[in-house]
Amino acid sequence: LTLSELRGEKQTVFPEREMAGMRLVGVAVVGCGYWGPNLIRNFCDCSSTCVKAVFDQDTAAMVRIGRAYPTVRLAKRFAEILEDPEIEAVAVATPVCTHVALTEAALKAGKHVLVEKPMADNVAGGGRLVSLAKERSLVLMVDHVYMYNAAVQRIKTIVDSGSLGSIYYIDSVRINLGIFQDDVNVVWDLAPHDLSIVDYLLGHPPRTVSATGTSHTVSNQEDVAYLSLDFGEGLIATFHVNWLSPVKVRQMIIGGSKKSLVYNDLSPSEPIKVYDRGIEFDSSPESRHNALISYRMGDIWSPQVPRDEPLQNVVRSFAACIREGGDPLSNGAVGLRVVRILEAAQHSIKAQGSRITL
Ligand SMILES: NC(=O)c1ccc[n+]([C@@H]2O[C@H](COP(=O)([O-])OP(=O)(O)OC[C@H]3O[C@@H](n4cnc5c(N)ncnc54)[C@H](O)[C@@H]3O)[C@@H](O)[C@H]2O)c1
Repeated sequence: LTLSELRGEKQTVFPEREMAGMRLVGVAVVGCGYWGPNLIRNFCDCSSTCVKAVFDQDTAAMVRIGRAYPTVRLAKRFAEILEDPEIEAVAVATPVCTHVALTEAALKAGKHVLVEKPMADNVAGGGRLVSLAKERSLVLMVDHVYMYNAAVQRIKTIVDSGSLGSIYYIDSVRINLGIFQDDVNVVWDLAPHDLSIVDYLLGHPPRTVSATGTSHTVSNQEDVAYLSLDFGEGLIATFHVNWLSPVKVRQMIIGGSKKSLVYNDLSPSEPIKVYDRGIEFDSSPESRHNALISYRMGDIWSPQVPRDEPLQNVVRSFAACIREGGDPLSNGAVGLRVVRILEAAQHSIKAQGSRITL
């Protein structure tokens, strides 16, 4: 089948949804490799969006989408999407090095944008996107999909309730035999997930970043890396990201003064466990010269977490912000804070782990 044979007519609007009185948000998805099809499926499943067109510079990727979605228009050029007045919003799911240029072009054409993580491959480019979206009153949302994960949202309510006490440390591990990316290293590929979770939970950026990483391929892209963030007031966070691990681990430990929480993203039934375990000090004057530490071994609690698809929450929220004029939870400012940490980590790796002040 040739691309032109696959080109269908414009997608028919579902009359029952239009009749419900709500105009659907016309969306185009750019980049139809691994992740783009997940966006297309979720926009098609969402009751307030309609996929008008898709574009990928690779014809084979377009052919696959044409087969799966025969009514979706296969655009020949990105400009075709920018010029179409029926397309209000663009989702960018291309390699990281293309995010700034494609998002900038879409915003300049007056489109709302949902851009994949990380939002940009440098702070200056990311900053331009935030300013542009603000100037033109357009929604700029980053697909930091974990912020829309029911388990992470539950963790946020637990942290905000104060039941963990003061947060002492966060220990995050995201390792697997990963898919090597051409344009970015393992830090830019995997760490945005964990950095966006921590940004969401703590609500403020770290003071300093240091990182070490090594590469084991001719690409010279680091495939194993360790990041260390200092948030001040005794709170430190470490992140291990790795494409070479023989086992898959996605775990975050949040250690608090009262309780500690373990988030295991790979556990479908009990992703969160809260441990009433820790240490207690005897701070009485008599014990000042003889620190008395006792161990508390209390219960373990695992809250119920709904099992919905986080990406469906992302696309629904994007559509709601466009229709109702809201600001997304993972807006451009959040995306930029994550890029700032990634860029600092990159500098630190190049400087053998030097501490970079943000
Ligand atoms: N949110 C998540 O959980 C998640 C998961 C995986 C990937 N991602 C992100 O999605 C993005 C894409 O990752 P992927 O794994 O799908 O990559 P991929 O290489 O599988 O797909 C990228 C596609 O973009 C196309 N492309 C490249 N440049 C283009 C251009 N200028 N115009 C149009 N098409 C272009 C390529 O032909 C390819 O089909 C990355 O930013 C990645 O970080 C996010």
